[in-house]
Amino acid sequence: MAGTIIDGKAFAAQLREKVGTLAAAFEEKAGRKAGLAVVLVGEDPASQVYVGSKGKATIAANMASFEHRLPDSTSEGELLSLVERLNADPAVDGILVQLPLPDHIDEQAVIAAIDPDKDVDGFHVTNAGRLAVGQSGFVPCTPLGCMMLLTDRLGDLSGLDAVVIGRSNIVGKPMAQLLLDANATVTIAHSRTKDLADVVRRADIVVAAVGRAEMVRADWIKPGATVIDVGINRLAPEPGASKGRLVGDVAFGEAREVAGAITPVPGGVGPMTIAVLLRNTLVAAHRNAG
Ligand code: GUN
Repeated sequence: MAGTIIDGKAFAAQLREKVGTLAAAFEEKAGRKAGLAVVLVGEDPASQVYVGSKGKATIAANMASFEHRLPDSTSEGELLSLVERLNADPAVDGILVQLPLPDHIDEQAVIAAIDPDKDVDGFHVTNAGRLAVGQSGFVPCTPLGCMMLLTDRLGDLSGLDAVVIGRSNIVGKPMAQLLLDANATVTIAHSRTKDLADVVRRADIVVAAVGRAEMVRADWIKPGATVIDVGINRLAPEPGASKGRLVGDVAFGEAREVAGAITPVPGGVGPMTIAVLLRNTLVAAHRNAG
């Protein structure tokens, strides 16, 4: 029997709804809306779409959206001054600087300039450190969204074997940390891992975040495993089509036949990222107001 499809789109819609209700209650109590500032530098079309979606979702969740769209020619100094202004602005609870930044700007320097208590992306080293030592801070949105889907599906993760494929600071490493905190036995696999298929085959939970289209095949999956696909890859267009299909890092059609449950692409992990961003912003607002 084919595995259950984990409906991240529906889960994210519910979470946005819940955050919207809580944000309205926050406004009532605090006399102001929770506020999220999103900064975009340059004209990258995908980033423009993401930033537009974040702004709309923020407003729909009863929060204030402050969008800053800057030209590609913006200097690092100008961007750092904007971040400083947003750090000091009491109407701004969360700050997100859309990545990637143009090559002439040092991403790490910009992330380091964000007040860790407004870093709703969870990218600042202070928040990475807090996660590493088990202190409360902001956790990156995508792995936290994956964790919500996993615990919703599986409940207690204690003792389960989890394999995270990918070791990025934004997904792989925080994902592994969250799974460890939930008492899973965690392996981080990556491009240099030997016998990757064998490693993945041991896992009750597979989180694929490598950015390689359909790399994880059905015969890598342990029967009944829960598969979370973080990848978003666009295939080359079919003849006559203007755009290629979006696929994940997992060969969904065949993997679904073996997995117990699996997230689709699109409609799986993707929608969770914005929903968790809104949740993190509301948490920031409560901390700033309290
Ligand atoms: N670019 C792609 N995803 C993200 C994200 O979650 N946060 C930021 N800041 N930039 C991104």
